[in-house]
Formats: sequence, structure tokens, C-alpha cells
Amino acid sequence: MTAQRACAVSDLQEDTPLRVELDGVPIAVVLDSEGEIHAIGDTCTHGDISLSEGFVEGTTLECWAHGSAFSLCSGKPLNLPAYEPVPVYVTEIVGDDLMIDPTVTKDVSGL
Ligand code: FES
Repeated sequence: MTAQRACAVSDLQEDTPLRVELDGVPIAVVLDSEGEIHAIGDTCTHGDISLSEGFVEGTTLECWAHGSAFSLCSGKPLNLPAYEPVPVYVTEIVGDDLMIDPTVTKDVSGL
């Protein structure tokens, strides 16, 4: 599997999650207020809720259903009720294209 075009970088709006689906894998893409682009699994690990419908605050994305906030860097929930992390995907910018391989996740063990 190789990286695929997820969206145009210029389509991303600060702190506004964008849901993309690559090979059936839902991914939430977020441009944070520091200009960093993050790509994490879009499905909350507490319930079948799209995290991209939630709220960005700093480098977290909060699930609207019950309030678990997931780190955009590590994918880990920072508060209950979710306790399992979501995957964090490697991103690459090519021109104005944001490229993501939905089979490649970041090693976040040190985060
Ligand atoms: S479904 Fe996301 S915190 Fe409950």
C-alpha cells in the first residue's frame, strides 16, 4: 500500500476537523492553530462516533458524545470514558496534496 491523496492542504481550515476515508479507513485530519497537520483514526474508541464531528482545542480532538479528548499527537484519550487510543497516521505534503497511507501508523510509544 502506498500513500494516497487525502485532501488538498489548502482545503484545511484551522481547528476544523475534516473527515476523509481511504480504503474504507475513516481518518480525521486536523490543522491545528500552530499550523501542524494531524491525521488520527476518526472513530472514537468509546462508541461509534465520528471524532471529526467533535471539537479541536490545542492539540486535542474532543468527542462530542461523552467528552473524551484525544491527543492529536499520540492518539491517546486524555480523559474517560474512552481509554483505548486511536491510530495516528503518517502524513506527507506533496505540493498542495496531503498524502496518507491508511496502513501506516506512527510509532507513538514515546509520547
Ligand atoms: S462515544 Fe466518544 S466519548 Fe463516548
